[in-house]
Amino acid sequence: MLRPDATIGILGGGQLGRMLALAAARLGFKCHVFCPEPTSPAFDVVRRVTEADYRDMAALARFADDVDVVTYEFENVPAETAVFLAARKPVLPDPAVLATTQDRYAEKTFVRGLGIATAPFAAAGSAEELEHALQTLGRPAVLKTRRFGYDGKGQAMIRPDTDASAAFRAIGGQPAILEGFVPFEREISVVAARGSDGKVVCFDPTENEHQDHILKVSRVPAAIAQEIADDARRIAERIATAFNYVGVLAVEMFVMPPGSRPALLVNEIAPRVHNSGHWTIDGASVSQFEQHIRAIAGWPLGHPIRHGRVEMINLIGTEVDEYPEWLTVPGTSVHLYGKAVRPGRKMGHVTRVFEP
Ligand SMILES: Nc1ncnc2c1ncn2[C@@H]1O[C@H](COP(=O)(O)OP(=O)(O)O)[C@@H](O)[C@H]1O
Ligand SMILES: [Mg+2]
Repeated sequence: MLRPDATIGILGGGQLGRMLALAAARLGFKCHVFCPEPTSPAFDVVRRVTEADYRDMAALARFADDVDVVTYEFENVPAETAVFLAARKPVLPDPAVLATTQDRYAEKTFVRGLGIATAPFAAAGSAEELEHALQTLGRPAVLKTRRFGYDGKGQAMIRPDTDASAAFRAIGGQPAILEGFVPFEREISVVAARGSDGKVVCFDPTENEHQDHILKVSRVPAAIAQEIADDARRIAERIATAFNYVGVLAVEMFVMPPGSRPALLVNEIAPRVHNSGHWTIDGASVSQFEQHIRAIAGWPLGHPIRHGRVEMINLIGTEVDEYPEWLTVPGTSVHLYGKAVRPGRKMGHVTRVFEP
């Protein structure tokens, strides 16, 4: 167990790092954020920062010397960075998880290997392999780059009349995965924490609504049957346990129309705190950020109690200018990340808590 005056090293300085650092501070910890980006939102709230490239080994060595444990707020930490740090200080969750979750094909193969359903998928490493995959999976289908995709970037829909090789070029001609298009009824996610003792605590499944491929609203409870909610938690728990995970992860799932078997398909795993868990800051007695800090510090996990029905709304791009109005809405908490406005950028969020 880390003492409360220990220093937590965070790789990545976005809003997730900022909210992790705020949760850590509340428990007495100091944080040191490492990020190449000079205007990182997390830099504003911590004691020490390193602004350097993830492959700057001298900077990484100094960072490792200064911290007691290292964690990350994004999944694209270069493998060599994690390995370098892991030789010096505990890195949690284990960097081996990154290798699987950085690659959509490896990730889906891993999930399927646990006996958990996903959309049908096949590798599409070239335009020829894509043609072959389309013959097996049929159309419509979704083509996604194996690596570095987010908010719908690096994806192309393949409809009955789509020229497949043009779609392959459109995503940059990179190694890709083809997925059968799934006619899901709704999208949910489960944010799960696993402690160093192997105990798993899941937040209530959250229902997610996207706009232009970016998460717009998360609602809890999700409008799903209890039995499906229980299944969703069990799936997240199995994934966390299979990774021997320590910290918070999120599992995105598709809920299929009533009567479908299986009822749930796993879409994506995020080996970190997740946007769909932001409601937990104001909507639960323990937040996803605090759970993550507790887990990596070797502290017992909390037992989050939800404060009623909760809605989290992302403020994207210029929507952030609406914050003065949100400040006056009863039951609403406003979170601003201190970032410069750009279209499509997550600038902040609001949480609305409704009476149970
Ligand atoms: N196989 C699929 N069938 C139907 N819709 C999909 C499929 N894969 C992704 N989508 C839609 O696209 C969104 C983004 O895809 P996702 O794989 O989660 O990538 P990312 O969130 O990294 O951009 C999903 O939330 C879902 O709405
Ligand atoms: Mg996603």
